Amino acid sequence: PRTAALIVAAGRGLRAGTSIPKQYAPVAGRAMLAHAYAAFAAHPGIDEVMVMVAEGQQAMARAAIGDEAAIVTGGVLRSDSVAIGIEALCDTADRVLVHDAARPFVPSVVIDRVIAALDDADGAIPALAVADTLTKDDGTLVPRDGVYRIQTPQGFRLPILVQAHAAWPADEDATDDAQMVRRVGGRVALVQGDVMLDKVTYPEDFAAAEARVTWETR
Ligand code: CTP
Ligand code: MG
Repeated sequence: PRTAALIVAAGRGLRAGTSIPKQYAPVAGRAMLAHAYAAFAAHPGIDEVMVMVAEGQQAMARAAIGDEAAIVTGGVLRSDSVAIGIEALCDTADRVLVHDAARPFVPSVVIDRVIAALDDADGAIPALAVADTLTKDDGTLVPRDGVYRIQTPQGFRLPILVQAHAAWPADEDATDDAQMVRRVGGRVALVQGDVMLDKVTYPEDFAAAEARVTWETR
């Protein structure tokens, strides 16, 4: 089967508080998007990479990933950007991995796991079991058994992802695609995630990402 990667990089990065949108801010010497793009472009199981970029940010995107990269203008919500990306693939793929540009470090073994799991499931998502005690702010304990942190890349068989986006209410945002695929009855498998994939969301997450790469490479 042909497998495409869709990298969503069309957000505004408001919570990160950087002067330029966070996906173009450097981590370990390169824009976050550049790291993520390189991981998929180099992976032998990925046939095509498409990047969703916000209006007016094409020049920044080109500076990060070059003139040859396939770039499409994204939408208002993350789910809009994914839907536009799916459309732009125009049925050239059987499977698609959707990835957040805000997760710069993508271990190739995680891409392998996601692709492999799609042989037996409609979707496959990297997950990490929660190890910390969980409580609400009033002290109520939240049982952590069977609770996972879900990351990207999230892989899907393309037809069900198309169906999921068609059925999703236009004004409802979704933080990931797995919840959309599940809502149309798709079976989504969990595969082992990786702390390297943790998302950069808040200002302090940049230092954490730098620290992770230092650990990894020393
Ligand atoms: N994204 C996108 N299109 C949107 C919104 C988000 O492509 N309309 C992308 C972001 O660029 C990011 C990923 O979805 O790579 C995850 O979203 P998030 O971490 O929320 O990033 P932002 O929406 O940019 O940040 P914030 O919510 O803090 O403004
Ligand atoms: Mg957002």
